[in-house]
Amino acid sequence: MITAKRSANVKINFEINAWKYMRLSAILLVPLVWIHSIINTLVTGPENINLGYVAMHWANMGWRIYDILILAFAFSHGVNGLRQVLFDFTTNTTTRSILNLVMLVFWLALSIVGATAIIGGIKN
Ligand code: HEM
Repeated sequence: MITAKRSANVKINFEINAWKYMRLSAILLVPLVWIHSIINTLVTGPENINLGYVAMHWANMGWRIYDILILAFAFSHGVNGLRQVLFDFTTNTTTRSILNLVMLVFWLALSIVGATAIIGGIKN
C-alpha cells in the first residue's frame, strides 16, 4: 500500500500567520464588501448619499458595527498586503523591520481616524 505523507517542515512564524490572515480576511471581505457595495450603489444610489444619509445610516448601531468591521478587515488586509508587496523589494532585516513599523503606524493612525468618525457619528 502506498501512503502519502506530508512532511514539509514549515515553521509557523509571524509571516506565515500574516499570510493566513490575508486569506481569512479575504473570505470575510466577500460578504462585507458585496453587501456594502450593493446597498450603496444599487439600492440607495450614489446620487442619494449625503451627510443626512450617513447620519441616518449611523443612527442604527448595527450599521456602525458593520462599518467598523469593514474598516478593520479591509484596511488591515490592504495594509498587510502592501507590506508583503514592499517586502518583495528587500531581504534586509533592518529595512523590513522599519517597513513593519511604518506600516503599523500608518495602519493605526488611519484606523483611529476612521473609527473615531464612525463611533463619534454626525452631530446635528
Ligand atoms: C472582497 C474583497 C477582497 C478579496 C476577496 C481579496 C482577496 C485577496 C486575496 C485572496 C489575496 C491573496 C492572499 C495571498 O497571498 O494568498 C489578496 C491580496 C491582496 N489584497 Fe485583497 N482582497 C479584497 C479586498 C482588498 C482591498 C479592499 C484591498 C486594499 C485596500 C486589498 C489589497 C490587497 C493587497 C495589497 C494584496 C497583496 C497582493 C500581493 O501580495 O501581491 N484587497 N487579496
